[in-house]
Amino acid sequence: MNQIKPTEISVKLSADTVRVREYLDRAVRPAVLDEEAQKTYKTNIKQLMQQKNARLVAHYYTDGVLQDLAEESGGFVGDSLEMARFGRDCDAEILIVAGVKFMGESAKILSPEKTVLMPTLEATCSLDIGCPVGEFSAFCDEHPDRTVVVYANTSAAVKARADWVVTSSIALDVVEHLMDEGKKVIWAPDKHLGSYIQKTTGADMLLWDAACIVHEEFKARGLADMRKLYPNAAILAHPESPSAVLEIADLVGSTTQIINAAKQSEKTEIIVATDQGIFHRLQQVAPEKKFIIAPTAGNDATCRSCAQCPWMAMNSLESLYGSLQKTGNEIHVDSALAAQAMIPLQRMLDFAANNQLKVRGKA
Ligand code: 13P
Ligand code: SF4
Repeated sequence: MNQIKPTEISVKLSADTVRVREYLDRAVRPAVLDEEAQKTYKTNIKQLMQQKNARLVAHYYTDGVLQDLAEESGGFVGDSLEMARFGRDCDAEILIVAGVKFMGESAKILSPEKTVLMPTLEATCSLDIGCPVGEFSAFCDEHPDRTVVVYANTSAAVKARADWVVTSSIALDVVEHLMDEGKKVIWAPDKHLGSYIQKTTGADMLLWDAACIVHEEFKARGLADMRKLYPNAAILAHPESPSAVLEIADLVGSTTQIINAAKQSEKTEIIVATDQGIFHRLQQVAPEKKFIIAPTAGNDATCRSCAQCPWMAMNSLESLYGSLQKTGNEIHVDSALAAQAMIPLQRMLDFAANNQLKVRGKA
């Protein structure tokens, strides 16, 4: 097992922190709308979507009102793998992706003939920011013997440099498959997810050094204390959380895998280590259960995001209406780059179609 951290990666990290802060400064929260205003926006958006043959695809971390709108209007709410699949398979002319930029780009790559819009183009991801294509490409060039596996939370250019794209629901299975083929892996960008896969599979992986600012805030010590407070609760965690948190968790999985586990669990109290936007769906699928957010450092301490992705939170009814009305905030991906990025993305979708994905742990 090889876990080299080359010097240039450590140097890069401090630059990343600065870059992430710059983006965070621009992550302005939308205004809170009263019920009447929400109703009016929803009616107008539904009308526009019908007129323009548009469909809304939303991630579980977006505001519950957007998730409901997607469901009510024949769109879709899901994890990043399912969003990509739905976007590719639906017959709309316009896809509106409520989520973050890499999700819009994946939709465009998989459906170049569709117009892909986003409520805001400012919604990015600290993993995407933490993996600039120039540095990543140079790193890959230094290790030509390794298969390059990148998380979906990356730019189209990084995907184009990869052999495989994976999401959290499929990453373990793909790396196991590569191991069976005797392959050594470069993994980017999430170091926590990478080290979780490395520990679980024993694969030979070189890890890029970036993290999700939301999941990184979950604290193992606080979680252990919480377990004492709720001794009968199940703990469900997203694999972008730090390893000490994942070690305590009963189940580690993607957002959809967490929702399914919460529904199936016999436990009535569930502690969840992921963005709290997911509580909207959790409460829908298991209204009788009590869901508790896993502890972070807290608003007044070091926590920058406190279990809520600042970029996912930028998606709003207002911005969605604006982009749809003007057919603005369109996602463009250079066609040659898209064709190159399509190869590892398609590889992932084919793998998902041909394999029953495993979920680790039991809640
Ligand atoms: P999922 O693939 O589990 O939906 O995760 C996407 C993401 O950005 C988690 O932070
Ligand atoms: Fe990126 Fe983390 Fe936000 Fe997911 S929650 S989009 S990984 S910053």
